[in-house]
Amino acid sequence: MDLSPASPVPLLLDCDPGHDDMFAILLAAAHPAVDLLAVTTVAGNGPLEAVTLNARKICTLAGLDGTVVAAGADRALRGDRRTAPDIHGETGLDGAPLPEPAVPLADEDAVTLMARLLAESDRPVTIAATGPLTNVATLLERHPEVKERIERIVFMGGSAGRGNTTPLAEFNVHTDPEAADRVLRSGLPLLMCGLDVTHQALATPEIFDRLHAIGGLLPATLGGLLRFFAGAYEKVYDMPAPPVHDPVAIAAIIEPAVVRLVDAPVAVELAGEHTRGATVVDLHGVTGAEPNVQVALDLDADRFWDLMLDAIRTLTDRGALGGA
Ligand code: RIB
Ligand code: CA
Repeated sequence: MDLSPASPVPLLLDCDPGHDDMFAILLAAAHPAVDLLAVTTVAGNGPLEAVTLNARKICTLAGLDGTVVAAGADRALRGDRRTAPDIHGETGLDGAPLPEPAVPLADEDAVTLMARLLAESDRPVTIAATGPLTNVATLLERHPEVKERIERIVFMGGSAGRGNTTPLAEFNVHTDPEAADRVLRSGLPLLMCGLDVTHQALATPEIFDRLHAIGGLLPATLGGLLRFFAGAYEKVYDMPAPPVHDPVAIAAIIEPAVVRLVDAPVAVELAGEHTRGATVVDLHGVTGAEPNVQVALDLDADRFWDLMLDAIRTLTDRGALGGA
């Protein structure tokens, strides 16, 4: 049963590809419930130059030649630079050869492009963020006039429980806590897909088999990349199957019923010696604060993987490099 929104959701995807960001791009580009206006990049899993090149290569591999790709922040608001080569490799997307990019880099920087597309859209635009929130926070600060054009911000980040970068902080929020703080205080409708839900999106051996069974260069390349990602997660976190975090945020837009949401007050710790970057999710209303975020806590993993694998099949049939 298709539970997609009636008309395609205009979407800006801000990301740091990144293996799981790659799957978010593919799902957003393939599914008819989304009108992907642009992909913007932010330093995170890799340096800005690397994640931007990766975005352009992924779009080229998937036959998404018309995708607009613009580069954004090369560091956090405070100036910190942090990457994750232990998970994503030195290129930010290790594990398989990728084509030279045929998708050009936009002349505009990410924030300028986001502001222009928001102003030009005839409908409010959803922003999906699957990297550090630096570009989104800068957009809200530099272009307050576009806030009313934003439908909501759906972000992969944070956790109602433990972290993956420090004991309590998740990578995207920990990389730029000030940016996350500005987004959390923005007053905009927010949907948070944190580790609680993304750790239910596990690429098990069955998923690898289903991916391989699609056939073609795109699935084969994705399988190689995913095997690298899986090896990293097993080595670093002793996880037998890797959580493919970022496309969960896209799936929650495409088919809201794929996640279970609770409204909760969410804040981010900025000053704690041991807790900086931790998202503080008040699931039981003990702080008395007003809820400011819809927090995804559970995932229909079967439905999620059906959506993800169907998207890859669609792109393969539609004309990804190497075809079916
Ligand atoms: O903590 C996981 C998140 O950090 C994912 O978005 C991953 O791509 C990295 O950006
Ligand atoms: Ca990411």
